[in-house]
Amino acid sequence: MTQKKIVLTGDRPTGPLHLGHYVGSLANRIQLQHEYTQYVMIADIQAMTDNYENPQKVRQNVVEVGLDYLAVGIDPEKTTIFIQSMIPQIAELTILYLNLVTVNRLKRNPTVSAEIKQKGFGESLPAGFLIYPVSQAADITVVKAHIVPVGEDQAPMIEQTNEIVRSFNRIYKTDVLVEAKAMIPSFARLPGIDGQAKMSKSLGNAIYLSDPADVIKDKVMRMYTDPNHLKVSDPGKVEGNTVFTYLDVFGTDTAKIQELKDQYQKGGLGDVIVKRYLIDVLNAFLDPIRTRRQEFAKDRDAVMAILLAGTHRTLQVAHQTMTDVRNAIQLNYE
Ligand code: TRP
Repeated sequence: MTQKKIVLTGDRPTGPLHLGHYVGSLANRIQLQHEYTQYVMIADIQAMTDNYENPQKVRQNVVEVGLDYLAVGIDPEKTTIFIQSMIPQIAELTILYLNLVTVNRLKRNPTVSAEIKQKGFGESLPAGFLIYPVSQAADITVVKAHIVPVGEDQAPMIEQTNEIVRSFNRIYKTDVLVEAKAMIPSFARLPGIDGQAKMSKSLGNAIYLSDPADVIKDKVMRMYTDPNHLKVSDPGKVEGNTVFTYLDVFGTDTAKIQELKDQYQKGGLGDVIVKRYLIDVLNAFLDPIRTRRQEFAKDRDAVMAILLAGTHRTLQVAHQTMTDVRNAIQLNYE
C-alpha cells in the first residue's frame, strides 16, 4: 500500500480571503484534498510578525478565514485545518533551525527582502519578521510535508526550508526531516480590480469571497478596463482588460464571452454592458459560497470546534515529529 503524499499550505489570518486567494490556492486545495493527506494551516503566529500590535485583528480573522475555507468547500473530513499558534512544536523546531541559518541568508531571501523594503522597516526590522521563513520551515516539516502548493512569490520559502532540512539531516546524521517540493499552480495570478498584477488586501484592490452583491456591483463598476476605450464606438482591447480577464476565469459561457470580446474589439460595445455581465457571472460564482458562509457563520463556536479538532489531530503528528527530532539530536531525556 502506498501512503498518500502529505500537502501543507497556509494563510495569514489578517483579513477575509479574496478572489485572488481562490484562484491562486483555494481552488487547488479543493482538488488536492481528494488525492492527498492535506493540511491547511491558519498562520496566526506568522500574522503576528507584522501585526504584533493588533492581536485582536489576528484573533478575529482566524474564524473568518476558517469560514472562508468551509464556504468554498474545503472539507474538514478530508482536510486537516489547524491553528499554528496551538502547535508548540513549531516554535520548538524554529529555535533549533535558527542555528542552521545565517542572518545573511535570511536577508537574501527574495520574498523577505521584498517585504522588508515594502514595509519600510529600515533599521527597526523586528528579528521575528526576518526569521519568519525559518518558522515557515517548521510549519512545513512539523507535518513532514512532501508538497507545498504556493504562488511563485513563496518559492524561495521552500528553497530555504529544504536547505534547513538538508543541513539538519547532514549534521545530525539522520533522515527524519523530509524535503518538500513546491507545487506552483498553473493558473496565472488574478489581477486586482485596478488592473495591478496582484490582488491584495494591502493594495485595496480585492474582491472578497464574503462581499455582498451590492459591493460586487460597486467594485466591478470601478474596474480597470481599456483606458483608450473612450467612446462606445471605439474599438477596445481585451488583453490586459481586467473585466475580460475575470470573465475568462469565472465565466462559464465561453461562446457568449467570445461574442462579447469580438464585439468589443470591433467597437460598438460599451464597458458598462460587459461589466453588467461580469457582475452576473461573479454573483453566480459567489452565491453558493455566500450561502454556505452564512450557514456556517450562524454558529461560530461550531466553526472553532472544527478548527480545534484539526489542531488536535495535527498535535499528534507534531508530537511524533518532535520525538524523532529530539532522538536525532539526542536531546531526549525520557
Ligand atoms: N507565508 C504564507 C503567506 O503569506 C503563509 C504560510 C505560512 C505558509 N506558513 C506556510 C504557506 C507554510 C505555505 C506553507 O501566504
